[in-house]
Amino acid sequence: MNHPPYRDPYEVIDELGRLTTLDAGPLAQGLRLRAVHGSPATETSFKSILGLGLLLLARERGLLAEGQPVIESTSGSLGLGLAVAGRMLGHPVHLVSDPGIPEVTRLKIELAGATVHLIERPHPVLGTQQARDDLLQSMLEQHPEFYWTNQNDSPLNPEVYTRWVVPHLMRTLDFSRIVAGIFCVGSGGHFSALSAMLDGKGVPSYVADRHGSITFGGEPAPSILRGTGNQNRIPAVIEAARSRVAGVYRVSDDEACAGVRQLCTRGISVGGSSGVCYVGAQRLAADLVRLTGAGGTGQPGADGEILTFFADRGELYGTTLLNCGEKSTP
Ligand SMILES: Cc1ncc(COP(=O)(O)O)c(C=O)c1O
Repeated sequence: MNHPPYRDPYEVIDELGRLTTLDAGPLAQGLRLRAVHGSPATETSFKSILGLGLLLLARERGLLAEGQPVIESTSGSLGLGLAVAGRMLGHPVHLVSDPGIPEVTRLKIELAGATVHLIERPHPVLGTQQARDDLLQSMLEQHPEFYWTNQNDSPLNPEVYTRWVVPHLMRTLDFSRIVAGIFCVGSGGHFSALSAMLDGKGVPSYVADRHGSITFGGEPAPSILRGTGNQNRIPAVIEAARSRVAGVYRVSDDEACAGVRQLCTRGISVGGSSGVCYVGAQRLAADLVRLTGAGGTGQPGADGEILTFFADRGELYGTTLLNCGEKSTP
């Protein structure tokens, strides 16, 4: 598999990294939600940036050799990013996923030339993530020559956003208005980079986590939401950023779906993890207004913004989230 890059991969990632932000509307008295839109132009998600960035950084560091095969466990989005990046850079890509992967994502991955390996059934307690990890480990034993990007534990994960996303946000965000950030956590990659960015401006960051995630305590339970929360283990990436977690807001699947529907009424179509962020942001806003006054700034009459990150588009999930779990295709 030796495809010459159709474009300079560094130009591609520079373009992908220029994420736009949108005003997602009012939250509580004087406070509005500003969301970094993780999938503005590419029809994929922010994990396209991660997929390409992880391979570029690994090649720069001498961790990934020319033509070396790559393997990763994925709910779908990173898999698509890696598939496209692997094709661009000449690496065969093997992705371990589960039958819940959106059909459209699986098809796009296969079109990009990667191989999808699906688990047969979830682990009885630790769910699909554990079953994927088990399958990935057994494949790595058979193919020790594979390079495992290991998004959950690799410091390269937040580094990708720090290098290719944060500089653009630093130029485009109005930090004088931002009173807090709230982000969901899978690996913790984007939380790590964005909370460090906000921390540098003296702004605290919160987490919106789904029910059934063990990342911040709690019993493991399955969810219809993909990419957010952890059912089997706590990634080293979020562990390393834990000191920047100012607080955690927990959101159920039903509440996240209601959030997705509410955002639809504002003309914003996003996936379930964005619903988690939106509902978390509403609660954070109410707390900030209660504790510090209008706009969360402590100054009467002032207004402010909570920054969040909308990872992907609602269309990926058909009407599943709009019907709160009842599956159907787009
Ligand atoms: C849709 C979606 N939202 C949120 C996340 C969590 O992002 P991170 O891994 O940076 O914590 C992911 C991760 O795969 C995702 O796919």
